[in-house]
Amino acid sequence: MAKIIDGKLISAQIKAELKEKTAKLLEEKGIIPGLALLLIGEDPASTIYVSSKEKSCKEIGYNSIVRREPATITELEALNIIDQWNKDDKIHGILVQLPVPKHIDEQKIILAISPKKDVDGFHPESFGRLVIGMPGFVSCTPAGIMELLIRSEINLKGKHVVVVGRSNIVGKPIANLLYQKNPHANAVVTICHTGASDLRQYTKQADVLIAAVGVPEIIKADDVKDGVVIIDVGINRVDDPTKEKGYRIVGDVDYEGVFSKASAITPVPGGVGPMTIAMLLSNTFKSASGGF
Ligand code: GUN
Repeated sequence: MAKIIDGKLISAQIKAELKEKTAKLLEEKGIIPGLALLLIGEDPASTIYVSSKEKSCKEIGYNSIVRREPATITELEALNIIDQWNKDDKIHGILVQLPVPKHIDEQKIILAISPKKDVDGFHPESFGRLVIGMPGFVSCTPAGIMELLIRSEINLKGKHVVVVGRSNIVGKPIANLLYQKNPHANAVVTICHTGASDLRQYTKQADVLIAAVGVPEIIKADDVKDGVVIIDVGINRVDDPTKEKGYRIVGDVDYEGVFSKASAITPVPGGVGPMTIAMLLSNTFKSASGGF
């Protein structure tokens, strides 16, 4: 039977720690961490995410500024907002909720955010720092996964971690974190993607499996070995007429099927998901308290 890695609980602990440190930062240095959020358009999921980030800021004593702009905003207008925030000393972190509408170049937006305020860790400078093991902002979901593993005392040294998915937001950065030569990592890492003709050949070798593909329950019990640690990053909606909303949320892993084989597993929801906001708050604190 698997140990359940409780992301809700761990994220609550991190938020409580940050709340305490934030009160101290104000008392000792007169600084209140400030996070600026830009939401463009009305994508329902993005709207919920931004409100949730705003609420979390309030809970732990941060200032948050939220700009909700219509999808018709021009790229230049968006870049001007970012430029203004880059110059504002009271703002320590800047986040533009993705995806942005098609007429706005996402890469231009990411590049416009000062690397000193890049609490999402999406800027190429942040990613470059991560790859070569320099201090910097690590994007929130991969940072959250590392925190889950560390706080659950899962030692990665010499373990074979198989990452399924090569996205810029999760797959690539988590793989780079996992093989770094430091006491919390030092794993041997394989990255799988749609180019793999036989995914199972790789996933079966995993001591730790990180699934970040966005395909509901694609990883089944037969795809993993006994004792595997499963980190499920997927958040997928599947139709379910028995639910009031008509759907339920599942991960990339068949949780029920894999449960008896795994030694530890993150549930969906309540695993990796809550960690993303906790790490955003942590990055913002880092920025407000002097950077990295
Ligand atoms: N959209 C989905 N996840 C994220 C995230 O972590 N940061 C931003 N900025 N947009 C997202």
